[in-house]
Amino acid sequence: MDALDFNGRVAVVTGAGSGIGKAMAFEAAKRGMTVALADIAEDAVTETLRQIEADGGKGLARKLDIRDADAFDAFANEVIKEFGMPAAVFANAGILNYGSTLRPDLEIWRRSLDINILGVIHTVHAFLGKMLDSGESGQFVITGSMGSFVAAPELASYTAAKHGVWAICEALRMELGSQEKVGVSMLAPPRVDTPLLKESVARTTAAAGEEAGKQIRGGAMTPEAIAEAAFKGAETREFYITPQIDDVAPMIRDRISRLLDR
Ligand SMILES: NC(=O)c1ccc[n+]([C@@H]2O[C@H](COP(=O)([O-])OP(=O)(O)OC[C@H]3O[C@@H](n4cnc5c(N)ncnc54)[C@H](O)[C@@H]3O)[C@@H](O)[C@H]2O)c1
Repeated sequence: MDALDFNGRVAVVTGAGSGIGKAMAFEAAKRGMTVALADIAEDAVTETLRQIEADGGKGLARKLDIRDADAFDAFANEVIKEFGMPAAVFANAGILNYGSTLRPDLEIWRRSLDINILGVIHTVHAFLGKMLDSGESGQFVITGSMGSFVAAPELASYTAAKHGVWAICEALRMELGSQEKVGVSMLAPPRVDTPLLKESVARTTAAAGEEAGKQIRGGAMTPEAIAEAAFKGAETREFYITPQIDDVAPMIRDRISRLLDR
């Protein structure tokens, strides 16, 4: 597949009001793209666009709950009518909640699966078919996590959903087949210093002390660095965009060998 030139084209980003999505929006604008931004947090996503416009960029920002498929389709139609077919779609919005798997909180599970899995599928539903039909080139980038490859106690509602994201990305890769226009990437960030990481830091601090909490945040990538990696991988059509995967490689190997080397 040919590398993409994003300059002058359109980027869609969900979760663009905070963290990685916000940094993706800025990265898109930096690359000369028109941005189409969505977030459930209206003020936050409006502020992201305001900052981009103040720097000479352009686009639109909309309040959108990615759990709402009809609203998502309406958003996609508006974006395409206003600016044309996106060259990059970042299905990025997601949530993380801790909770016992032994005594599961069903509300947490439903929210996690609705946002982290169905939210991704709604993004695919709203945009991918239209991108394919248009005959234009583009890349569909879905944010998984290192939690797509390894499990963790009290994080099953998150890691189960993110494992599902891996399966969705693989299925898309297979179904996209040999056509040369639209590709899929799975972005699997390591720890990134965003509001989502706050609870992990607080929990580690409570369990293992201030220094351990600091280490979680200290080892984290910046949202800007992960956004840049995401764009580079999307441009060059990488399937896996996995900065710092070496840090969890032993856990992934251990898991696979417990399955296969019995
Ligand atoms: N921060 C990390 O360490 C880390 C690591 C691996 C993966 N990720 C993934 O990166 C993605 C972005 O996370 P982040 O760290 O930037 O978090 P964040 O909390 O800073 O930002 C997430 C954004 O998504 C929005 N959002 C939440 N629910 C939504 C909904 N229903 N509809 C629309 N928008 C919604 C929030 O309002 C927020 O603006 C998530 O998918 C997350 O799982 C983050």
